[in-house]
Amino acid sequence: MSFRTVLLLLATLSTVYGALYADPSDVPRTVYDYVVIGGKPIFSSVQSTDAQFRVLLIEAGPSNKGLFDVEVPFFCTNLSPGTSLDWNSTTTPQAGLSERVMAYPRGRLLGGSSSTNYMIWTRGSKDDFNRWAKVTGDQGWSWDALEPFRKAIEHIAPPVDGHNTAGDIDPSVHGTDGPLGISLGESLSTDGMVTRTTRQLSEFPFNVDMNSGNTIGIGYTQSSISDGTRDSSATAYILPALSTHTSLDVLINTQVLKILQTGTDSGLPAFRGVQFAASPNGRVYTVHATKEIILSAGAVSSPQVLMLSGIGNATELKTNGITPIVDLPDVGQNLQDHPVIGNIFTVNTTTPTFDDIQRNATLAAADLAEWESARKGPLTQSTSALLGWLRIPDNSPIFANHIDESAGPTSAHYELLFIDGFSASVQPFPATGRFFTIATAVVSPSARGSITLASADSFDLPIVNPNLLDNAVDVAIMREAIRAARRFAAAPAWAGYITGEYSDLAAAQTDAEIDAYVRNGSRTIFHPAGTARMAPFGASHGVVNPDLTVKGTRGLRVVDASVFPFITASHTQAPTYVVAERAAHLILQAALVDTERREHELVAP
Ligand SMILES: Cc1cc2nc3c(=O)[nH]c(=O)nc-3n(C[C@H](O)[C@H](O)[C@H](O)COP(=O)(O)OP(=O)(O)OC[C@H]3O[C@@H](n4cnc5c(N)ncnc54)[C@H](O)[C@@H]3O)c2cc1C
Ligand SMILES: *[C@@H]1O[C@H](CO)[C@@H](O)[C@H](O)[C@H]1NC(C)=O
Ligand SMILES: *[C@@H]1O[C@H](CO)[C@@H](O)[C@H](O)[C@H]1NC(C)=O
Ligand SMILES: *[C@@H]1O[C@H](CO)[C@@H](O)[C@H](O)[C@H]1NC(C)=O
Ligand SMILES: *[C@@H]1O[C@H](CO)[C@@H](O)[C@H](O)[C@H]1NC(C)=O
Ligand SMILES: *[C@@H]1O[C@H](CO)[C@@H](O)[C@H](O)[C@H]1NC(C)=O
Repeated sequence: MSFRTVLLLLATLSTVYGALYADPSDVPRTVYDYVVIGGKPIFSSVQSTDAQFRVLLIEAGPSNKGLFDVEVPFFCTNLSPGTSLDWNSTTTPQAGLSERVMAYPRGRLLGGSSSTNYMIWTRGSKDDFNRWAKVTGDQGWSWDALEPFRKAIEHIAPPVDGHNTAGDIDPSVHGTDGPLGISLGESLSTDGMVTRTTRQLSEFPFNVDMNSGNTIGIGYTQSSISDGTRDSSATAYILPALSTHTSLDVLINTQVLKILQTGTDSGLPAFRGVQFAASPNGRVYTVHATKEIILSAGAVSSPQVLMLSGIGNATELKTNGITPIVDLPDVGQNLQDHPVIGNIFTVNTTTPTFDDIQRNATLAAADLAEWESARKGPLTQSTSALLGWLRIPDNSPIFANHIDESAGPTSAHYELLFIDGFSASVQPFPATGRFFTIATAVVSPSARGSITLASADSFDLPIVNPNLLDNAVDVAIMREAIRAARRFAAAPAWAGYITGEYSDLAAAQTDAEIDAYVRNGSRTIFHPAGTARMAPFGASHGVVNPDLTVKGTRGLRVVDASVFPFITASHTQAPTYVVAERAAHLILQAALVDTERREHELVAP
């Protein structure tokens, strides 16, 4: 390998092995170079460096290691909501969803949501990232500039059934040496019907690789799965770093309460202290960082931790009894997410679908035995074998009255996800029948929501309002997406297989009926982003600078999905890894500059 995977902030030369602590009283030091909040990937594959830094990573939840449902891809839907690995957040009543309250899951364990998500690996489009570069004033966020970071993350793993994937993925756009495996799933009998449809209906072109920068079209789903098992930031970065050559300390089962101001630095408040505790009544501990605190608690918790630390809308902080230190009204604002609805079709088949695994214990046991003995079979899949990204035509009447929020021609307005079974959020799973679902999602949404404090108590969950579909254009796009799903299902390729529309979908025919169906049946696809958005240096809006440092502070960076200035028209894990890769590079650069400055000062008379 030309590149060595190292935990960026650590010495490759260090002989001290990393250690995992499950109790804050066991942590051996009170001072580290860096303290990372949240068990997320902020590591990098960079060439080895001589720099030797001590890092403490603090994660609220347990280790991912040995958790069976985390490892088996098909069991991803068992991991949340309302489990021991979930934060158990729920939303406020959603105005755009008939005032429904939804579960808002996010992983609470090493690896964060990358350990509980559905593993779909989509990078976003060229236009998504070029828009980031434009609105942040930093060309480093452009699609082309991010190329080495995208490639450093991944390698392509073979599909478990060994089928020939030529023409189903383009290896030239992917990395070869990165620690995270991505793969295509086993072939399913419905795959051929989806690909035949792309040849029969020109509005649904086949796209060999939706991760090339141009997302538009339908193609095979790449997933963060290798050897039939989930890969995550914990399996690919944290655990290997702990067990090899690093001087990393990882503290689990411990929640960060707030970040502390430790003084001033170049006239700005410096935040280099962290307070944490294992439980609401547990002892409170403090550690300090000589260099930086890296806040990686995710798009829901990172803004909460900032606000608890006195960084946010000063008026709102005072209302909660918190003394404001930095008045940054954008903290927690600009929350973006993708609404999704499962559109269910009935099928006429004698071949088992995923529905059978849920109902037939004999089949489920056989599938499990196959997974355990050979890492093969249906349990190696997550949800969709194929998916697609599509645009509403530019001349659509929708955009006569509304702004087009998509980033450009390589970015979609909506997504189609093809699922070999019943997949709904509100309709109960029926006792009989086999199904095919075409889920539709609005992926360049106009709606904006927020994360606000419920109280100044760090153990109270924040108030989550993603505000899904509270917006006429998003509903209109969802309506068009459902019509597109119907045209797709009506292609000759499906004759004799799809026999009709199931229940609520069948009843939704007029615009008004479709809108009612959408508001009644949509939910989040679990992609919160934008709550600590990047904005140019010196801008009065935004929370972080383009180098991810928190505006108006020293010693503090945010590295997670909250920094997205606009949500990507994609699933959000791959873009978050890319943010983390570039962040690692920026942090190392800053450390080297800092070291040079100190050396210069030492030799200066
Ligand atoms: C059910 C589900 C399915 C998903 N499916 C997909 C998918 O198929 N494909 C895809 O691309 N994306 C998917 N996503 C989204 C993707 O996983 C996230 O975008 C990605 O993980 C980045 O999330 P994040 O930055 O918000 O932080 P997270 O991944 O949520 O990580 C935050 C971490 O910080 C920890 N933490 C939070 N607060 C504290 C605190 N106070 N103290 C200590 N630790 C703390 C958390 O426990 C967690 O480990 C899914 C998400 C969910 C929840
Ligand atoms: C979420 O709910 C589950 C089920 O009640 C529980 O076991 C778990 O501890 C809860 N998580 C948190 C963070 O409270
Ligand atoms: C700060 O919060 C207050 C109270 O919610 C609100 O009225 C005000 O508009 C916010 N300030 C900014 C700049 O958003
Ligand atoms: C359950 O699955 C087994 C194994 O595939 C099969 O032999 C059996 O017929 C199935 N039972 C039902 C009720 O479908
Ligand atoms: C169901 O499939 C069978 C055999 O493949 C076929 O004979 C029958 O016509 C199909 N029924 C419908 C409603 O398409
Ligand atoms: C709304 O969802 C419920 C299931 O929770 C279903 O019974 C009802 O038919 C749905 N209504 C519409 C308009 O889709």
